[in-house]
Amino acid sequence: MEVKEPTGRLGVLIPGLGAVATTMIAGVEAIKKGLAQPIGSITQMGNIHLNRKSGNNYPKIKDFVPLANLQDLVFGGWDVYEDNVYEAAVNARVLEPGMLQALRPELEALKPMKAVFEKEYAKNLDGTHVKTAANKYELAKALMEDMTSFQETRDCDRLVIVWCGSTEKYIEPSEVHESLSAFEKGLKDNDPRIAPSMIYAYAALKLGIPFLNGAPNLTVDIPALVELSKQTGAPIAGKDFKTGQTLMKTILAPGLQARALGVKGWFSTNILGNRDGYVLDDPDNFRTKEVSKLSVLEDILRPDLSPELYSELYHKIRINYYPPHGDNKESWDNIDIFGWLGYQMQIKINFLCRDSILAAPLVLDLALFGDLAKRSGLSGVQEWLSFYFKSPQTSPGFRPEHDIFKQLNHLQNALRKLMGEEQLNAEGLTYAEEGITA
Ligand SMILES: NC(=O)c1ccc[n+]([C@@H]2O[C@H](COP(=O)([O-])OP(=O)(O)OC[C@H]3O[C@@H](n4cnc5c(N)ncnc54)[C@H](O)[C@@H]3O)[C@@H](O)[C@H]2O)c1
Repeated sequence: MEVKEPTGRLGVLIPGLGAVATTMIAGVEAIKKGLAQPIGSITQMGNIHLNRKSGNNYPKIKDFVPLANLQDLVFGGWDVYEDNVYEAAVNARVLEPGMLQALRPELEALKPMKAVFEKEYAKNLDGTHVKTAANKYELAKALMEDMTSFQETRDCDRLVIVWCGSTEKYIEPSEVHESLSAFEKGLKDNDPRIAPSMIYAYAALKLGIPFLNGAPNLTVDIPALVELSKQTGAPIAGKDFKTGQTLMKTILAPGLQARALGVKGWFSTNILGNRDGYVLDDPDNFRTKEVSKLSVLEDILRPDLSPELYSELYHKIRINYYPPHGDNKESWDNIDIFGWLGYQMQIKINFLCRDSILAAPLVLDLALFGDLAKRSGLSGVQEWLSFYFKSPQTSPGFRPEHDIFKQLNHLQNALRKLMGEEQLNAEGLTYAEEGITA
């Protein structure tokens, strides 16, 4: 496989310059200035095990694969509110005022472009920094103009797009999403089943730009846009950044399953008070998130394979909007498990996390890996990026992988393959003893 070197600047365009996006952008600017470390980003801090006879067997991922350099990243985006990135970051109340002050000139210079938005898809938002056009097809064309003129004026060699916009209301795939021709007709007919995020994705993919989806919306997870991504050679991946409670779930559940421990119930509740929480306070938008979060356990525990351990599993998820907590989400999990002879036990997790601090490095990694995929000639669904998502998009007929350790192995094997190195098993080990060579 030929992997083109990253030359020139990479434009990272983000629909939705809210808490997650501004925390990522401010973070990268701080890292560029040597004010902070990219903790949580495996492209920057992770190592990879290689089965080489000599030399460094554990290089840093960024030294192993040719990724765009942080100094070469240029940010831009769209939002329904006019706030520049400095103002939006102050409002998000994630990063310390002192840190933001030190980055103020860079952040103030980033002003959002007018969004493509439909209130029906996020009723709790009332922003007016919004494009108008005769129909959705014209809106897509306006977004394409934004993308090409950003690339020209900011002198970017390549672009990548990561959706960090609000969670849209729940919709199911229907005929208009089934094929590219039906979708394009729907754009021209202003079909209400085409969500704003799909219009951004269509515009990006038409131009061959990779599109990564950090929210649980369907967006690129429809046949029409998978078809387009293959046609134009654009990598796609989604859905819903894996942070907080779901991150914990996909770390813990594989361990319980590995030890053949039974799980009877898993009750998960959250309180959060940021704008994301406010949007999710609407039941239609919460439903999109709920579906994404619910899929995780069944796929890891596989009650179909071990009904005696998991067939009774009761999985319940709640998200409550609670303004005093802001972005500092608090989650509780009560897990009812059972062991030897059916004896019951309980696990309680109280995670006091920071939502956007956990999500920001994922946005960075996805932008860099999305660009790597494009430079490697990959297109369509990038399942090796499942590691980053709560509800990984798969090719038709494949089960999503939720176990974080298997996902990491999958990601690392994809990198090994791109660089012509030997694939390793989940442990990355070759045992020395005769007869158990892995
Ligand atoms: N923070 C996390 O840990 C986490 C984890 C998984 C997923 N997510 C998802 O990431 C997304 C961003 O989260 P956040 O905390 O930054 O939310 P946020 O509300 O702070 O930011 C979202 C921004 O998107 C803007 N927006 C909404 N619709 C838009 C459109 N059509 N075009 C352009 N802009 C639009 C909003 O005005 C807002 O500024 C949400 O969908 C959230 O569910 C976040």
